[in-house]
Amino acid sequence: MLSKTIESALNNQIKIEAESSQIYLAMACWAEVKGLEGVANFMYAQSDEEREHMLKLVKFVNERGGHAKISQLKEPNATFNSFKEMFQKLLEHEIFVSESINELVHISLNEKDYATHNFLQWYVAEQIEEEAVARTILDKINLIGDDKGGLYLFDRDIENLTVTTAAADTTE
Ligand SMILES: [Fe+2]
Ligand SMILES: [Fe+2]
Repeated sequence: MLSKTIESALNNQIKIEAESSQIYLAMACWAEVKGLEGVANFMYAQSDEEREHMLKLVKFVNERGGHAKISQLKEPNATFNSFKEMFQKLLEHEIFVSESINELVHISLNEKDYATHNFLQWYVAEQIEEEAVARTILDKINLIGDDKGGLYLFDRDIENLTVTTAAADTTE
C-alpha cells in the first residue's frame, strides 16, 4: 500500500512524464515542418518513450493500492530559433526530470517504501542514458555549426544514434 505522500509524489512524476511526451511531440512537429525527417522521427520516438515512462508509473500506482491521477498538461513550446536551441532545451528538460526522479528516490527512502525505491531504480538508470544521448547530440551539433551539409548528414544519421553508457545494461 502506498502512503499518501508517495502516491502524490508518483502522481506528480506521471504528470512530468506526460508533459515530456508533449514537449517532444511538439519538437517532432517543428522538425517535420522544417524538413528534417530524421530528427522528426527521432523526436516522435522520444515522445512515445516518455508515454511509456508515464504508463509504467500509472500501472505501478494503481497496482499498489493508489489511484493514478491524469492531469491537465502545460502547452509545450512549438517553435525554436535553431536545432541547437531545440536540443539544448531537450537536455535541460532531461536534467530537470533527473532531479525530479532523484527527489522521488529521496522521498521513498524517507517513507521507508523499499518497493517504490526499487521500482524507481529503472528510472535512475534511464535518466543517465537519456542525458547521455542529449549531450552526444549537442556535441555533434556544435561540431556541425552552421554547415548545411553537416545538418543534412546529421538528419540522416540521428535515427541510428546509439550511446553506450555504464548504466546501459540495467535499462532496456
Ligand atoms: Fe521519461
Ligand atoms: Fe526522458
